[in-house]
Amino acid sequence: MRLYVNIDHVATLREARQTDEPDPVRAAAACERAGADGITIHLREDRRHIQDADVAALSRSVHTVLNLELGAHPEIIRIAARVKPFQATLVPEKRREITTEGGLALRAGDRKLRGAIARLHDAGIRVSLFIDPSRRTIDLARALGVPAIEIHTGTYAHTWKRGPTALRQLRRAAAHAHEIGLAVHAGHGLTYQNVQPVAAIPEIEELNIGHSIVSNAVYWGLAEAVRRMKTLVETARNP
Ligand code: PXP
Repeated sequence: MRLYVNIDHVATLREARQTDEPDPVRAAAACERAGADGITIHLREDRRHIQDADVAALSRSVHTVLNLELGAHPEIIRIAARVKPFQATLVPEKRREITTEGGLALRAGDRKLRGAIARLHDAGIRVSLFIDPSRRTIDLARALGVPAIEIHTGTYAHTWKRGPTALRQLRRAAAHAHEIGLAVHAGHGLTYQNVQPVAAIPEIEELNIGHSIVSNAVYWGLAEAVRRMKTLVETARNP
């Protein structure tokens, strides 16, 4: 199980003052030293946190792998094709949202998305699609020819205290995706309190976690926040 740390909110803090600290490059290095298997960033069209210069700097500095989240906007796709991160995760993006609110609404005939996937693939980038845990959507992702999906865990994150329905849905989705040959990733809204049942799903091979790690870094320091999350993930997998 790989833990990729999303460091967008390190840049959020910097952008709050439009200054040069905290530095995402330094934060990424601290995450890697503490055991992160990869670094995830989202270059949004509105550039509210990660900036183009961060993408360029991180693509040079990250020793593990860089997972770039992005919407299917031609300008952002062009940047990705130039920078060539190890992985690109296509996400839906709305200007006014607080964070990515749902998975991609896949349609078989979506030429914009097909074009974005082809462009990234041709640049040698592994492509993943961020989608909801629905069987139909997973089948559509498979038909689009991508090697991987990231299952949106937001509903689970909002409802896990109220019962097992969303977790069961994640389990079913992960099993189905794996069965039809997709690599399965997961993320969104995962915290120190709710991560373990998701990490225990055997078909999931990668978790993308950001807000909770960066939030708790305020109390523990970033390295310790990554170490604690990594330990939770590993013990859930190998109890
Ligand atoms: N995965 C994807 C595709 C995302 O868009 C985000 C949020 O940027 C995350 C994972 C991480 O979510 P969180 O910050 O809630 O851990």
